[in-house]
Amino acid sequence: MIRNIAPDTCYIGVDDLDLNLFESQYRVPEGMAYNSYLILDDKVAVMDTVDERKGEEWLACLEEGLQGRIPDYLVVHHMEPDHSSMILSLAQRYPGIRIVATAKAIALLGQFFEGSSFETIAVKDGDTLSLGHHTLRFLTAPMVHWPEVAVSYDELTGVLFSADAFGKFGALSTCGFFGDEDGDWVCEGRRYYFNICGKYGGPVQVLLKKVLPLSPKVIAPLHGPVLRKDLGYYLDLYETWSTYGVETEGVFIACASIHGGTLDVATYLRDRLLEMGCPKVAFSDLTRDDPAEAVEDAFRYGRMILAASSYDGGLFTPAYSFLHTLQMKAWQKRKVALVENGSWAPSAGRVMKEMLGAMKDVEIVGETVTIRSRMKENDRAALDKLAEAILKQ
Ligand code: FEO
Repeated sequence: MIRNIAPDTCYIGVDDLDLNLFESQYRVPEGMAYNSYLILDDKVAVMDTVDERKGEEWLACLEEGLQGRIPDYLVVHHMEPDHSSMILSLAQRYPGIRIVATAKAIALLGQFFEGSSFETIAVKDGDTLSLGHHTLRFLTAPMVHWPEVAVSYDELTGVLFSADAFGKFGALSTCGFFGDEDGDWVCEGRRYYFNICGKYGGPVQVLLKKVLPLSPKVIAPLHGPVLRKDLGYYLDLYETWSTYGVETEGVFIACASIHGGTLDVATYLRDRLLEMGCPKVAFSDLTRDDPAEAVEDAFRYGRMILAASSYDGGLFTPAYSFLHTLQMKAWQKRKVALVENGSWAPSAGRVMKEMLGAMKDVEIVGETVTIRSRMKENDRAALDKLAEAILKQ
């Protein structure tokens, strides 16, 4: 797909509607976009390649966008294969092309393309590259979300080529080409952010401090729509997300039930919270719903109820896996209330407390409620008290 996004600057990325799992783990029912851009100035710069899954299609877009010209530079902002796997093919097609990237990215070339040599230009934070009228300024962004990452800013057009930052799941043919054409950018933008970059709030903060003084006019990420309007909206979201702030008032209930008893309890708590006036209650059945969406909601809300069955003297696997993922993603600054279920030796509560205790600024509120097999009439008072405790926070 070719579209102009700024003077002399066009989009030459591709949609992937055949992909079921991005990074072999994230569901992408709306597909995925691998974005790439082209700047035609006195010198010609290609901004990143794409996943080789759509390599031929991308090469055709590139050819059309070049209008008979030959690229001088390939700017590589990120070496993960969804953006870098066509580097060798491009270099073979245009042997004089020089790869502009950080030294760490250049070092990774040898790992991905063993035995190949490339002409390279290493850039450091603040370095510039003149294309004629356009000047690209490089800002390193280590650990957003790989160590070699850089973004670049076109000083003439105000376009920020932001690498994975400000990306989202979804092909552009399904979600819209520009952010303002996307009916609900934040839904998949948030799921993408917390699952890809959630662990790296500190590095995202460092990047935001470099980007904000530039007041970019357009943000051109490596996935998802090009952002050109109300950029403050996206920047504010990134500020909240990267500082682990609460985005939405409400409670998230995550439930892992083996035979339905714990699910009944979680459903009861959802209804009680709504009756008590909780502004929003999000719900995930960890045994069936998208795990990445559960991670997203855990970060979105400040409060969570986790209701889980006991299993093998520990915690039922879907809940264990969920908490393990939250640990990996540096989940923090949250309040949690717990419900455990156990028919003969309840053990889920102990494991949940151990795992939550290892996380930063995670506070367990109220008395953990223990259910024996099925919720009884006399369990309701303790559950109501737990709902009140989390709502009060
Ligand atoms: Fe889109 Fe980190 O690769």
